[in-house]
Amino acid sequence: MHLSAATELLVDLWLAICAAFVPTLHFLWRSPRALLDPTEVSRYFMSHVWAAGFGNGIDQNAREEKIKVITPYARGVVLDLGAGHGHTVNYLDHDKVTKYVALEPNVHMHQKIRDISNAAGYDEPSGTLLILACGAEDIHAITRALGGRHTVDTVVSVLTLCSIPKPQAAIAALAQEALKPGGEFVFYEHVLSPRSDVAWWQRFWTPLWKLAFDGCRLDRPTYLWVDEVGGWSDKEVWGKADEPEEHLFWHRSGRFVKTA
Ligand SMILES: C[S@@+](CC[C@H](N)C(=O)[O-])C[C@H]1O[C@@H](n2cnc3c(N)ncnc32)[C@H](O)[C@@H]1O
Repeated sequence: MHLSAATELLVDLWLAICAAFVPTLHFLWRSPRALLDPTEVSRYFMSHVWAAGFGNGIDQNAREEKIKVITPYARGVVLDLGAGHGHTVNYLDHDKVTKYVALEPNVHMHQKIRDISNAAGYDEPSGTLLILACGAEDIHAITRALGGRHTVDTVVSVLTLCSIPKPQAAIAALAQEALKPGGEFVFYEHVLSPRSDVAWWQRFWTPLWKLAFDGCRLDRPTYLWVDEVGGWSDKEVWGKADEPEEHLFWHRSGRFVKTA
């Protein structure tokens, strides 16, 4: 692998530190008790990274793929895992999607989700928007908030399966407990490369990268893990158009239909 491709993520790492280091220091100065809660510090840091332009930039970069994987398939109740600022809502067809459930454990992102969803015509008073503060791995909190099992028509994951704890168990629980029979699990994720040299660098950078990006790992073959859950009546996985193989952020999109 060329050194330039293997080290390209250092630019993003540097930009993230520039955007979030000083605000996070101020936060710790104001709330020193947060030092006892590294998850909260990490989320605060990430919220500044996302607000500084990463959220919008990554959305623009992923636009074509989102139009392919979200817009045609999202319908009914949509559960968006790790919603970030809620960019997914802009790819929903209002005639098909009755409710947008934005699951985002980082509460510092919630106001942005509310703003962007309201602008897209989904809001809490009408019941067309629900913001959940739990993690995607907390299946009991999810089914409780949605009024039971098998209530979700579409699970959407955009660049989130890289961050959730116990991802294989969480993906299986979401597919088996949250998703309705006939429902769809759609995703656009950066994943572990099948090329051993790229995978070596992905594993090399993960410990550093996950510190700055709230647990995000470069070394997960999540598209394979969704398939391994089984119980799919139809499935399709594809790559991002024109993406070079030598890419630390090698993407896969997919659409899995749960057997009715
Ligand atoms: C790279 S961002 C992607 C945000 C959004 N999906 C998008 O594409 O704009 C990853 C998101 O996953 C969220 N996240 C972190 N841990 C999570 C968990 N356990 N469950 C669900 N989301 C999580 C982060 O807070 C963050 O908003």
